[in-house]
Amino acid sequence: MADRGVFIVFEGIDGSGKDTHIKFLLRELRERGYNVVETAEPSKNRVGTFLKRYQRRDEGRLPAETEALIFAGDRFDHLKTVVEPALKRGAIVISNRYFYSSLAYQGAMGVDLDWIREMNRFARKPDLVVLLDILPEFSLQRLKRQRTIYERTEYLRKVRDIYVQLVNTGELVSVDADRPKKAVQAELLELLEGLLEAREG
Ligand code: TMP
Repeated sequence: MADRGVFIVFEGIDGSGKDTHIKFLLRELRERGYNVVETAEPSKNRVGTFLKRYQRRDEGRLPAETEALIFAGDRFDHLKTVVEPALKRGAIVISNRYFYSSLAYQGAMGVDLDWIREMNRFARKPDLVVLLDILPEFSLQRLKRQRTIYERTEYLRKVRDIYVQLVNTGELVSVDADRPKKAVQAELLELLEGLLEAREG
């Protein structure tokens, strides 16, 4: 692949601290002179906007398979319009969620994991995927209110179980997020610096 950029993804259950830690890393990397593009899924495109609205409304869920297909549609658009152009320009792209969220969240609803992988075959493999790992009973305490229809302990337990399986297969790198912010951030920075230094060779 000729792209010069670096694609980094953050995953974790709701309340795992992704937003805060990504903000910190963006600042640190930009201070070091890196060109960093911040992005997220659901994306800001039309399908992503639909998904965000859908999650906010508590009108019942679509079949989990349908959700998986719509998230995949958003992902395709997100890759083509945001991620791949930025990687071609040589940027570091940091995405708050990606394909692994579909495995974990729709998989936790009972959707076949192989089928989710199949429908996301177009989704390029990131250079690094970090799981900010925390138990739902602790992460939910951090959220001031129930923001989406997904934030329930039992469900998030299943979501986390799938994330942990992905750590065990080596697809995700786990960072213990149930620690003081500074400790988590130091570990994340070290991880990213290691990756970037290795790429610069
Ligand atoms: P967030 O913006 O707070 O991260 O919330 C996004 C929600 O969308 C979160 O509950 C996880 C969910 N989600 C899926 O269920 N499947 C997916 O493929 C993605 C990207 C997100």
